[in-house]
Amino acid sequence: MTFDHLGKRFGAVEVLRDFNLQVQPGEFLVLLGESGSGKSTALRVFAGLETASAGRILIGERDVTNVLPKNRDIAMVFQSYALYPHKTVAENVAYPLDVRGLPKPQQHEQVLAVAKQVQLDGLLDRYPRQLSGGQRQRVALARAMVRRPSVFLMDEPLSNLDAKLRGHMRAELKHLQQQLGITTLYVTHDQVEAMTLAHRVALLDKGVLQQLDTPARIYNDPANLFVAGFIGAPPMNFLRGALSGGWLEGAGFRVPTPVTASLAEGVLGIRPEDCRIADGGALQGEIYAVELIGDHTLVTLHIGTHKLTVKGAKDFDQAVGRRVGVAFDPGAAFVFDGATGARVR
Ligand SMILES: Nc1ncnc2c1ncn2[C@@H]1O[C@H](COP(=O)(O)OP(=O)(O)OP(=O)(O)O)[C@@H](O)[C@H]1O
Ligand SMILES: [Mg+2]
Repeated sequence: MTFDHLGKRFGAVEVLRDFNLQVQPGEFLVLLGESGSGKSTALRVFAGLETASAGRILIGERDVTNVLPKNRDIAMVFQSYALYPHKTVAENVAYPLDVRGLPKPQQHEQVLAVAKQVQLDGLLDRYPRQLSGGQRQRVALARAMVRRPSVFLMDEPLSNLDAKLRGHMRAELKHLQQQLGITTLYVTHDQVEAMTLAHRVALLDKGVLQQLDTPARIYNDPANLFVAGFIGAPPMNFLRGALSGGWLEGAGFRVPTPVTASLAEGVLGIRPEDCRIADGGALQGEIYAVELIGDHTLVTLHIGTHKLTVKGAKDFDQAVGRRVGVAFDPGAAFVFDGATGARVR
């Protein structure tokens, strides 16, 4: 499935600009971005629920830009599951087959098969109000699956669930997609969901694709400052200063960098998990806060005018206000152009 130079505007508001994305057959691709970045709009244009202002939508080789939604052979799962409250689980799941006019016995057979796959087979006679959030989500999923679409579109399908259930359903979804192998475009603003579910992640900012890559490469090799700052929790640390001869020099620090370029406005990025508190480290600062997370601590330091977070050992217990060193391997750091945000290599 392909977005080909897609543009979408609502009146004067341009939501998507020259958006190009190709999802491979069988791929689970996650469209990730902040609220308002245009994720749902991209999905809705693909589904035909919104018209494209420019460009084309292809499913395989077929141009569906002007094809009615119901003839596009896709199934969509929404954040609000949009179940029919007065229909049972079985009737909800059977609905798309009923619309197609499939005889009842065949409907029943197919509903049963899908219900087994998402573990709803004991709940077929219940009504949506008699189900938990996770079970409702599975009904919505089953109703999409029963159509055997060539493409699944999912818009934040887990965001109504509590954290624990979300983690559980995430694993279920991944397992299911691996089994079914249906091409899936999945929208979320949750980076953990994106990293864990996706074969590839497409990171969107204000309607513009910033990077399209595997989760590992998005994390290990960010294309620009935006991607570097978006992926990772707690976020990557950034130090601003002048770049020259393999060093970055800023207010109260001078650190080695992995590049030799010279720039008046440079940014060095280093992840909290790649820093450690160490005597004689390249950076010196005062401890500002220590937070025990469980298996590790987060130590926040003041370094000149910068704040820097270090992932520390779980038994880290040095006092606030104490002056300590921070060390990191320059090879684990990233450098960006402070003016444009572009990666400097
Ligand atoms: N029908 C519409 N008319 C005008 N503007 C719209 C319309 N639909 C969406 N927008 C605008 O387009 C932008 C992108 O919206 P969209 O719903 O695609 O964002 P999103 O990435 O899905 O965000 P969220 O994570 O909050 O769901 C927003 O600024 C929104 O206000
Ligand atoms: Mg949305």
